Amino acid sequence: MHQSMIWGVAISAAQTESAHDSYGKGPSIWDEFCNKKPFRFFGKSKVKNSHHLKDSADFYHQYKTDIDHIKYIGFKHFRFSIAWSRVMPDGVNINPEGVEFYKSLIDYCLEQDITPWITLYHWDLPAALEKKGGWTNRDILTYFNDYAMFCVRSFPQVNHWVILNEPSVFLGAGYLFGIHAPGRKSFDAFLKATHHAMLCIGMTYRSIKKEFPQHSVGSSFSMTQIDPHSNKSRDIKAARIADLLINRFFFEPLLGHGYPTAEVKRMEAIKDCMLPGDEVLLPTPLDFIGIQTYTREVFKYHPLNPFLKIKHIPAHKRTIDLTAMNWEIHAKSIYANIMKIEAYQLNIPIIVTENGVAFEDEVVLGRVNDFKRIHYFQTHINEVIKAKNEGANVQGYFAWSLIDNFEWAEGYQPRFGLIYVDFITKKRILKESAYWFRRHLNSSLYA
Ligand code: GAL
Repeated sequence: MHQSMIWGVAISAAQTESAHDSYGKGPSIWDEFCNKKPFRFFGKSKVKNSHHLKDSADFYHQYKTDIDHIKYIGFKHFRFSIAWSRVMPDGVNINPEGVEFYKSLIDYCLEQDITPWITLYHWDLPAALEKKGGWTNRDILTYFNDYAMFCVRSFPQVNHWVILNEPSVFLGAGYLFGIHAPGRKSFDAFLKATHHAMLCIGMTYRSIKKEFPQHSVGSSFSMTQIDPHSNKSRDIKAARIADLLINRFFFEPLLGHGYPTAEVKRMEAIKDCMLPGDEVLLPTPLDFIGIQTYTREVFKYHPLNPFLKIKHIPAHKRTIDLTAMNWEIHAKSIYANIMKIEAYQLNIPIIVTENGVAFEDEVVLGRVNDFKRIHYFQTHINEVIKAKNEGANVQGYFAWSLIDNFEWAEGYQPRFGLIYVDFITKKRILKESAYWFRRHLNSSLYA
């Protein structure tokens, strides 16, 4: 039944590689964000516990061990990202040592019969480009296109490409709320950056397909299920507005629907960021749509909120079933999101490019008994299969994440890995969830 289903596991460069300033790598906005203190040299870091991505799992040196583990567990697909500032330290000029690293990594995957899926951008913009305005500067389209084409030409044996990882998160958290790199807090910057990111997906897709029509090129989108607090029509409307702002705004333009601004007039300002002809460049016939679901959020009507009249009800006020990110565990969301994309009748495959859960795992007598994570994966995968059985064109599932990693502004405390990493010794221990995947990937259900 599910023989065509792709089973994989994912990581990203900034969260795992370490070696952040060696082998010719230039600084990225996340290196700078980790170093940032509010008053130049003092004050609290913007990353919890002042954790720094330089102390992550050292994937740069241990990638063979990690790929051996992927093979042992039984995943046949591996999604990882290229650090732009490793192959182009200033975003433009090439660092041959960085290119060599990814060549060796790709070759090792292929030798082990593991198919690489490469994310071109998982949030670590070269710092030199941020100095030129980053995503708010329209020139990013040329910089990104040159970088993307360089990668695709340098690694022609890679067939699966993911252009951007979760635009809504790097744009919202990075440019509007300032809680992720580059730490900007400006509505104007956010709108400009958003429009450029949307155009970037379309332009990169077309450039790659022109030269490599056989490649499969998609992009990944954060999809959070949004529910109303009650069945009252004003709460339903509040949830609809939140859905527009959190989800739809960042993929509907690509699907040919334009920016969904009808119910939130303030967002219409994005039209000021558009040049004549942009509306034609936005719709993009991606080869697959990557969706990433972790949780759901609940919203209600709130008259005192001046612009939107909505209020977020945080998970800890609604449930005790929380993860180390304080997110609600809600398996039905992944089914709902697949069906939501299905309803657009795109007729392209849906790939779950990330789904997973963080807990504060502990090693006890050499083992990590993460039974809550097994339950999470089991229930979420069941919902994916349910959607597939009901006719949804979902063709793949990637677990997040292979190894414990640097969870952005949350630092190292939330552990998402199937493999535990001791961040001091860099030693790996397969968690029970890794053994669970091994059993299940070998069983007939997932064959
Ligand atoms: C996604 C992101 C990953 C990872 C995950 C868990 O938004 O792509 O890098 O951090 O969330 O929070």
